Amino acid sequence: MLGRVNHIALAVPNLAEAAEKYRSVLGVSVTAPDALPEHGVSVVFVTLENTKVELLEPLGEDSPIAAFLAKNPAGGMHHICYEVDDILAARDSLVAAGGRVLGDGQPKIGAHGKPVLFLHPKDFFGTLIELEQV
Ligand code: CO
Repeated sequence: MLGRVNHIALAVPNLAEAAEKYRSVLGVSVTAPDALPEHGVSVVFVTLENTKVELLEPLGEDSPIAAFLAKNPAGGMHHICYEVDDILAARDSLVAAGGRVLGDGQPKIGAHGKPVLFLHPKDFFGTLIELEQV
């Protein structure tokens, strides 16, 4: 069902500082910050040869990463995103196998303009999984 790792997302307390550290210390290029109010985050992407790293900062009052940062004030790995060919087929087979999809179960348009869904971290050993249709 799963294709490539599309990205690994890290929640960070300060996006500008994190982006600058990736640039200056790790020597990678980082995209300009993008505010995604419908997802409650601001984001930059670090583009690597084989995948991307997404740095996330909370945006707005009820950001879905606020609780994560309250528990992990220095930041930490927030989710891993796998590519799928058909997100509705992937969802239906996961749900049939007893998996739980977060929210209303309908794909939303994610940071790359593609449909995404999130799977319950308790079903996957404590790691939040994002599926993105490519
Ligand atoms: Co993501």
